[in-house]
Parts: sequence; C-alpha cells; structure tokens
Amino acid sequence: MNDMRTPSADTVSHALVDDATYRTMYQASVSDPDAFWGEHGKRIDWIKPYTKVKNTSFDYHNVSIKWFEDGTLNVAANCIDRHLPERAHQTAIIWESDDPGVSQHISYQELHEQVCRFANVLHAMGVKKGDRVVLYLPMIPQAAYAMLACARIGAVHSIVFAGFSPDALGSRVADCGAKLVITADEAPRGGRQTALKANADKALAKLPEVKLLVVRRTGGDVAWNPERDVWLHEEMERVSAHCEPVEVGAEDPLFILYTSGSTGKPKGVLHTTGGYLVYASMTHQYVFDYHDGDIYWCTADVGWVTGHSYIVYGPLANGATTLMFEGVPTWPDASRCWQVCEKHKVNIFYTAPTAIRALMGQGDQFVEGIDLSSLRVLGSVGEPINPEAWEWYDRVVGKGRCPIVDTWWQTETGGILIAPLPGATPTKPGSATRPFFGVQPAVLDPHSGEEITGTVAEGVLAITDSWPGQMRTVYGDHDRFVSTYFEQYKGSYFTGDGCRRDEDGYYWITGRVDDVINVSGHRMGTAEVESALVAHPKVSESAVVGFPHRIKGQGIYAYVTLMHGEEPSEELRKELVAWVRSEIGPIASPDLIQWAPGLPKTRSGKIMRRILRKIAENDYAALGDTSTLADPGVVDDLIENRMNR
Ligand code: WTA
Repeated sequence: MNDMRTPSADTVSHALVDDATYRTMYQASVSDPDAFWGEHGKRIDWIKPYTKVKNTSFDYHNVSIKWFEDGTLNVAANCIDRHLPERAHQTAIIWESDDPGVSQHISYQELHEQVCRFANVLHAMGVKKGDRVVLYLPMIPQAAYAMLACARIGAVHSIVFAGFSPDALGSRVADCGAKLVITADEAPRGGRQTALKANADKALAKLPEVKLLVVRRTGGDVAWNPERDVWLHEEMERVSAHCEPVEVGAEDPLFILYTSGSTGKPKGVLHTTGGYLVYASMTHQYVFDYHDGDIYWCTADVGWVTGHSYIVYGPLANGATTLMFEGVPTWPDASRCWQVCEKHKVNIFYTAPTAIRALMGQGDQFVEGIDLSSLRVLGSVGEPINPEAWEWYDRVVGKGRCPIVDTWWQTETGGILIAPLPGATPTKPGSATRPFFGVQPAVLDPHSGEEITGTVAEGVLAITDSWPGQMRTVYGDHDRFVSTYFEQYKGSYFTGDGCRRDEDGYYWITGRVDDVINVSGHRMGTAEVESALVAHPKVSESAVVGFPHRIKGQGIYAYVTLMHGEEPSEELRKELVAWVRSEIGPIASPDLIQWAPGLPKTRSGKIMRRILRKIAENDYAALGDTSTLADPGVVDDLIENRMNR
C-alpha cells in the first residue's frame, strides 16, 4: 500500500516513542513477556508488589488467565490518592453538561472527597467487597465517582448503558446478582430527558431485595419508594469524607460489563484489577501520546467499555484531565464537539466513525471558524473507519496536523490491541496498523483454522497469547467463556472479526464474521433483536442481519414472518419498531422490516443467513449456492420485496 502518511516533524519531536523504539519495545514484549510486563507493571502503585507476572493458558482444556497474581492494590488509590501530593489542585474531570452553558471542573482533591464519601454511602447501604453494584446513569461526574467508590471498597460495578430499556436493565441486575442499583432521576441528552428512575422502578419491580440509590440530576418528579429508594445527596452529607482504600488482589474482579455475542443473552464480561489497570493506563499513555498537562476527551459513554478504560481508568491512573460529555455531537447543532474542543482547549480527541460520518454529512461550515489549534491527536474506535471519513477527520478537523489513531479493540480485550502510535507509526486511512506491546495477532484461515504466516494474509483475526487487560471469564459461566473464544480455533483467542494484513504487516479490520452487528459503534447481537421480535404476539419468526448504513456503519434489517392470519401493515411495522425499542432500547430499533412469508432454510431447518445478508445488502446477484434450500422459491419472493433498494 503506498497511501502511507508519515507523521509530521512536530508529531515526531513530541512523541513518546519513535518507530525504532516501538520495534524494540514490541520485540521485547513478545519475546519475554514476563520481563516486559514485570517492568511496566510498576507504572501503577502496588500495596504488596507482585513476584509473579504472567500465568496464562489458552489451552482449550484449561483456559486460565492470571497476571500479577500475588500483588495487591487498590484502583481508586491509583486513580486518585497517589496523585494528591502533586496534583491536588489539577483538574481531574471536566464535566460538560448537555446544556452548552454549563460545565464544571473537578480537581483531584475534590474527586478524592467525593469518591470517599460515595464509598462510605455504599458501605452504609451494606455494600461490601465482592458485592455487585449496577450503575444506570447519565454521563455525569457521579458516574465516575460511583465507579471509583466501588473500586475503593472492592465492590464490583456493572454499568448498564442508560439507553437500555427496563427489561434489559432488570435482566442484567438479576444475572450479576446486584444488591444495589445506582441511577438518576432523569438523563438529559440532546435537549430531551430520559426517565431513568422510572425505568429503574420498572426493572426492579420483580427484584424486591435490590436497593436503589438515586442521583438528583434534573430535579424532575419521580415516584418514590421509601422502603427502597435513597437520595445520594442526602446520604453524602451524612457520611465522613474519609475512607481507606481496601486492599484487593490483582485478580479480584473490578467490573462486569455485559456485551452482545452471536448467540443467546448478553455475556457478563469480567475484568479484574491489576492487569486491567496496567494495560488501560499504558495504552492510554502510548496510543494517545499522552503527556502531563494534556486535556483529553473521549466522547464515549461510560456504559461502554471505551468509557471504562479511556474516560475513567486509563486517564485517571495517568493523572490526566479527562473530559466527560453528557450531550450528543449534533445538539444544539453539529458544531458542538468543536465548540467543546475550543472551550476547554482539548489536545486529544477520541470518538467513533459513526459520529465522524454524521458530522461530515452536516458540512464543513460547522467546523470552520472554530479554533481547533489545541488539537494534537485524533482517535477513532468502535468500527472500521471508511477512508472518506478518515480523510475528512484528518483534513477538516485535524487540518492535516494531527495523527489519527484508529484503535481496534473489544469489550473483551479491556484495552486497545491494534493501533498506530503517534510519531512512531506511519498511518494509512482505514487501517488500525500495528499491534500494541505484548499483542500477538494471527490471521487464520476461517475454514482450516490454520494460521496464514505470510505477511500478506486475509482471514479471521485471532490473538495467540494473553495480554494483561484481557477478560478473565464470563461472569458465572466459565464454560461459555471457553466455548465462545477458545473452542473454534484451539490455542488462540478468537476475536469474531475478519481481517486482512497487507505487505507492510498492517492490519485492516473488515468487520464481524459472526452474528454480531455494529450499529453506530454499538455492539448488538442479531439473536437479541430476533428474540425481542418473536416475543411480540403477532410475530411467528424473525431473522435479523446487518446492512451497510451511510451514517451508522451498519443498520438493522429484520425479516419478519407473521402469525397465521395476521396482515402486514405500516401500523404493525411501527408497532414492531416501538416494541423492540421497549424490549431492548432505542439502539436496537430495526431500520428496515421486511415481511417474509417464509425464510430461506436448509432441509434441516437452519436459516441461511448468508442469503439474507446478501439481500439486505442489495447484492443479490451472486447468492451462491442455494441448492440446499428446502424451498428455493422463498428467495425470489424476498428479493422481489426487498427494502434496501
Ligand atoms: C469493532 C469497542 C474496526 C470490531 C471498543 C470489534 C472495530 C467490536 C474497531 C468490539 C476499529 C472496534 N476498527 N472495527 N478501530 N474498534 N471495532 O466490544 O468488530 O463494543 O470486534 O468494543 O467493534 O466492540 P465493543
């Protein structure tokens, strides 16, 4: 590939590492992981230092992942207390509210006090080390306080994105056996309010033993159950501002985060303490070329893994100033992100391709005239970035000055695995480029499972050895962990992504090869949407696939077969969309619903999704072999009535 962009002299002179250093460090990290991570593990503070570094096995019969296993530490102490001697008055969190007129600076000293009080509130409510706490919150400072308060007392948080429905919240609370849910009265976003407390009330209706702690965000009216509900602001006044961080083991759990897979209900991805924090902080520093004093903004939501690792844990472990944004990029208009960058002099900006495409579509005038000279590094995450969006980001936002770091990773990986390092890695639009330290990618032949060893390769992406940020298990279901990630291609971690490696050894992620789709950077299992649809009394069967969508990356295309005697109508279509929104949440809304009198099935009754995908992509000319279909006639009907013309 000749479309290679070498970093500017400015970027190189500023950078933490150059190309040669990257290569040396990378080599060291994979040839002797114990020595490499033994050294870099010291970047965080340990109460009891580790003597063992790596103890991991990807052997299918005995998958086990442990890092720094005999060390002890506390994550909140690492993210707050250890910075106090030098940074008590430095801003830890800049909070930018949904309302463009409102923002707040929270110093490390204030963060310390808030987190200590919050931790004492949790204690007072009976939360102990190892207990699970679910957070269902807007992007407000209290979300970060709550995460760090859990970490301070060794409780395990599980954040449920505030856009999820009461049902989705309730099933996650039940799955992890949480004692307590933390929510807010309402969540303002893009000038509208979501009734979070009311959603939580519905979710907890069948879980009477779970307590509810409520943040007052808008002051809007809420129903109140005095037996169960507690106002955070009242409790914060009552407790002491002193709270000793609890000593936890490196392999004690830090958080559970539910994510979609290709089958069944969402999985509780479990991350532990020591390795996760080392990896989140190290990737944050190197991938974003983070330097002391930088203002860093990641636009993700704390409900997703990006918010965990790159709004809260990574940046705060590094003593950074991290910006939390409550709003959306297109409200009040498409200049919001750039206004915020100008207002807070943001140096590092990290967002998703879907946001870039949406803003690009609104026109350059929303960027022009805004002073973006503070920007130094631009990041992208969540889905493949198309070269057109990459070029726009580079030219219009970065003015050609800012390296773009396209970061590939997953909820399961805890931190970034493949990305350029500013100043060290020449970039190519659309490629995540090279592996981070300690990461050993392999391209496998999807059929034989054999590794393709030549430099140029195309297949599925696996990782052949462990890195410290890797998930440890599926909460409560280790067998599912093993069968999801280690069974199909034995001996390595299977990512679920397809990829290509070019002649320079650069990786190009081509998207999921399983039944997971990526809608606006949000991960969604097609099986989840299908089970929501068939739960509707008028639906007998459904098959859901992704299709290319100009802004969202992928849209949701649902084939629906109605119960005998039910008639398709526009009204029913709307009803089904609303139904899925209420079952899962707005992010799962089908974009297109096609009435399907029948679905293409093999004689053994298996739905041939490959065909449905092709029709949804409007690429039905080469459907491949349909001879195994029980009734090839259904395909003609589906093509005839396709929605994505
Ligand atoms: C996709 C988000 C291409 C990929 C951190 C992965 C990407 C899934 C990129 C994980 C990227 C993420 N280029 N694809 N830079 N980043 N993906 O768990 O398909 O929400 O498997 O984690 O997003 O999504 P998740």
